Amino acid sequence: MTPPTLDSLDWLRPNLLGSTKMVGVMGWPVEHSVSPPMHNAAFRHLGLDWAYVPLPVRPAEMPEAVAGLRALGFVGANATVPHKRMLYDLVDELTPAARAIGAANTLHIRPKGLLGHNTDAAGFQRALREADMPPEGRHALVLGAGGAARAVVCALATSAASVTILNRTPEKAEILADAMSAAPASASIEAGPLDRKTLSRYATRADLVVNTTPLGMWPQVERSPWPQDLPYPREASCYDLVYNPRQTQLLRQAQAAGAAISDGLGMLVHQGAEAFELWTQQPAPVEVMRAACEAVLDT
Ligand code: ATR
Repeated sequence: MTPPTLDSLDWLRPNLLGSTKMVGVMGWPVEHSVSPPMHNAAFRHLGLDWAYVPLPVRPAEMPEAVAGLRALGFVGANATVPHKRMLYDLVDELTPAARAIGAANTLHIRPKGLLGHNTDAAGFQRALREADMPPEGRHALVLGAGGAARAVVCALATSAASVTILNRTPEKAEILADAMSAAPASASIEAGPLDRKTLSRYATRADLVVNTTPLGMWPQVERSPWPQDLPYPREASCYDLVYNPRQTQLLRQAQAAGAAISDGLGMLVHQGAEAFELWTQQPAPVEVMRAACEAVLDT
């Protein structure tokens, strides 16, 4: 592949003036984040005098970092791994979405105080609809029970018919199922181990499978949470949160079985779009944001 020239990525870069409004992403590490080009492309496209910067923050320094952003006049920030729980604890006020998930991925710095929000569940829901996999009435299998799974289960709990959380460490799946069952939920929520026997038991009735584990993500590209010798259920749409690479081993298995598939780029873009809209109070240019992510991921 020809390496990108500076010119070819120019539309992803911020323009900085004395008047520029600042936002960014706090992570550790943060250098592989695609959020800076995604948001900067959106600001440029709309002619907004805003810029989005990477903010490498050591976990122990989150309190200083958040106080520093306020002191520096930032409008807000995103928090990514491993800071979402810490941001949740550092803000003055939480949105219902952040409270339900128990983590904050978006900070809005307002004169009256720090607001913590979470756009992951709404981003996932928007992405499911876009992929033509509406969750209503579905029997969902969620693979994994970490931070990403919390947002996914939260989104499905109010729309799907049932949600079964399967995890390598089944105790964590139980804890998540208990926490989500306590909230207002229309779905019945169960938990179990992520093993061949349990997968084969649930595969017969599942019509939506969501992978929230890193299996299949670079550099584990040959791995899959679905055993190779277990037929993937044809009727079960497969949403893989992984977007690097976009074609994962799990998606190949699902596609070979004839199931509908979607990679995780849509959730990435839509969680970003929700944050963009909170900060700027303007509709996000979703297609520009998606093209920016694709440009960066393809390089
Ligand atoms: P995130 O915030 O991205 O969800 P996380 O909180 O570290 O990340 O959660 C990762 C999830 O992937 C967990 O459910 C983890 O299972 P455990 O709870 O047993 O650790 C799951 N996971 C990670 N590596 C895995 C592997 N090799 N096989 C199966 N599950 C794995």
